[in-house]
Amino acid sequence: MSSRPGILTIDPILPFMRERLEQSFELHPYTTPEDLQRFAPRIRGITTGGASGVPAEIMNALPNLEVISVNGVGTDRIDLQEAKRRNIRVATTQNTLTEDVADMAVVLMMTVMRDVVNNDRFVRAGSWPHSPLPLSRSLTKKRVGIAGFGHIGQAIAKRISAFGMEIAYFNSHAKPDVPYRFEPDLKSLAEWCDVLILAVSGGARSAHMIDNDILTALGKDGFLINIARGTVVDESALLNALKEKRIAGAGLDVFQNEPDINPAFFALTNTVLQAHQASATIETRTAMGNLVVNNLIAYFTDGTLLTPVV
Ligand code: 8YV
Repeated sequence: MSSRPGILTIDPILPFMRERLEQSFELHPYTTPEDLQRFAPRIRGITTGGASGVPAEIMNALPNLEVISVNGVGTDRIDLQEAKRRNIRVATTQNTLTEDVADMAVVLMMTVMRDVVNNDRFVRAGSWPHSPLPLSRSLTKKRVGIAGFGHIGQAIAKRISAFGMEIAYFNSHAKPDVPYRFEPDLKSLAEWCDVLILAVSGGARSAHMIDNDILTALGKDGFLINIARGTVVDESALLNALKEKRIAGAGLDVFQNEPDINPAFFALTNTVLQAHQASATIETRTAMGNLVVNNLIAYFTDGTLLTPVV
């Protein structure tokens, strides 16, 4: 039997990560709970994505688990209290994906407001010579509310301030030294803004933070952009608001039940959909993948983590 530490890979990993990990570890992809039983005692580490996390039944099935290296910044699907209790260390890829995720928020905002996807379809269908297109919406002078003002929220604000848009943010506390207005009440922010961008962490605190009440406050000319987590939004309230045109549109990178999202989204023409792609660039996924591997190597070399959470 190999003496190298066993690592359970919950999400698929990129080939270069596999190559690097195989130099030091024995890799086991997760398939089924029954299969996991075969090698569970050998598993000392996990790699997983932010959206997948570590389901409780997997954590409970691993008696010798010591470290979880997350290929992302979200820890909302990992029971951190339980990890602390069991002395399991947790690392994320913090500071690798901020800029790309902020870019995606801006891309979604521009794409949905300027109707880029519908217009592209119109051109490809050969309709240009035959009929006019509906007008889209200006960004300039519009008001943007950003819910969640950590690294990603602030990187979004930095980009958007170049468009001549007004910015205010909602957060658990006001941030010192930022040139933007703090709005402590989410409903007031939704009433004030034309575009509401979600950049909060997932988890119990933000679950269904965007409900019918907030969507009503955003109003029929308002747009919702979500690069955070699907859990932040009450999806049936959002689907109804979009169907009934009680909000103007949405740009969504994240959903409940990814990747099997509610098919009701497919028919909406006032919505731009992405498959959780905000950090999915070659550059960022390479940096993230290397950090995932480096955290595991550091831990099994001298017990340290480069970017620890727990
Ligand atoms: C990744 C994420 O797409 O950072 C996170 O928490 O959800 C995303 O950046 C995901 O972790 C992919 O593995």
